[in-house]
Amino acid sequence: MKRVLAGMRPTNLLHVGNYFGSARGMVALQENEEYEAFYMAVDLHAITTPYDKNSLAASTRNIILDYLSIGLDPAKSTIFVQSELADLHAQLAFYLSSVVTVARMRHLPTFKEKVKQHPENVTMALLNYPVLMAADILMYKANFVPVGLDQDPHIEVAREIARKMNELYDMDFPEPERFTIKGGEYVPSLTGEGKMSKSVEGSYISLVDNPENIRAKLASSPTDSGKGDELPTEGGVANLLQLVELFEGTEKRHKYETMYMSSGIKYSQLKAELAGAIYDVLKPIQERRKMFEKDTAMIDRILEVGAKRAREVAQQTVKEVKEKMGLA
Ligand code: TRP
Repeated sequence: MKRVLAGMRPTNLLHVGNYFGSARGMVALQENEEYEAFYMAVDLHAITTPYDKNSLAASTRNIILDYLSIGLDPAKSTIFVQSELADLHAQLAFYLSSVVTVARMRHLPTFKEKVKQHPENVTMALLNYPVLMAADILMYKANFVPVGLDQDPHIEVAREIARKMNELYDMDFPEPERFTIKGGEYVPSLTGEGKMSKSVEGSYISLVDNPENIRAKLASSPTDSGKGDELPTEGGVANLLQLVELFEGTEKRHKYETMYMSSGIKYSQLKAELAGAIYDVLKPIQERRKMFEKDTAMIDRILEVGAKRAREVAQQTVKEVKEKMGLA
């Protein structure tokens, strides 16, 4: 059986961009009977940049709650916390680091970005981030990784490491591929610039926003007079139309486009309808979250079962790698 693995970092709450970029893919793969899916909260990755030790455990728990509320089902997927298998994940990352050069890691765009953000915290853990991620993926011999487009450079590293390990040590790691559901690749920002991102205030709608929050956030997204001879291809209006397409469909988008070129768009109405459509997607997610939030004992049980299943597979891989590398 083919395998799927994904992880999310315990930082902020998920937003609508993550939902389309990766969460929907995770749920779709879980429902496909040809795959066994492993989904974890990657708290070891959280310590590669400055973090708060007093809130890490709660944030990790929050990712698990997010997973359950978007529809991941412990009866179908293995749901677990990375640090509960720190002995195996960190161990495999160390073995894999022996086939990766420092130069390759230093040139990754994701590394360079973090160096800019935290110039005083360029640690070994940060440099090693992609190797730890490769260990996460190769540990389960995963074929597919449902993550956003921004993770492509990391997936490529995992593929290179898989090839190297197969070549040098006769391992049988599949070369993992990124998986996304079409249409969710790029969710635009509400600010009219770039994509939705949790590091840009006012750019995103969180999965826990209520109807008033959603309306208020859309209200402050920039627009224009509502009509013109040509459709804007970038900026606030272009982004709003893209969100209309994501949440209300292509036909609705075309309707607004026609209005733009003729009678004009009333943005108050467009935004009200869009807010409603967004909330329709979020409502069932929020309802599930409320239900799970109350049952901490159930979450404990889910994570215990998940860690046990993950460990069965992980132990096997680490044993095999050790033997093939000539270690005792
Ligand atoms: N780097 C990923 C992110 O920032 C998180 C991650 C860590 C991950 N390990 C993984 C994603 C393994 C997929 C598979 O989103």
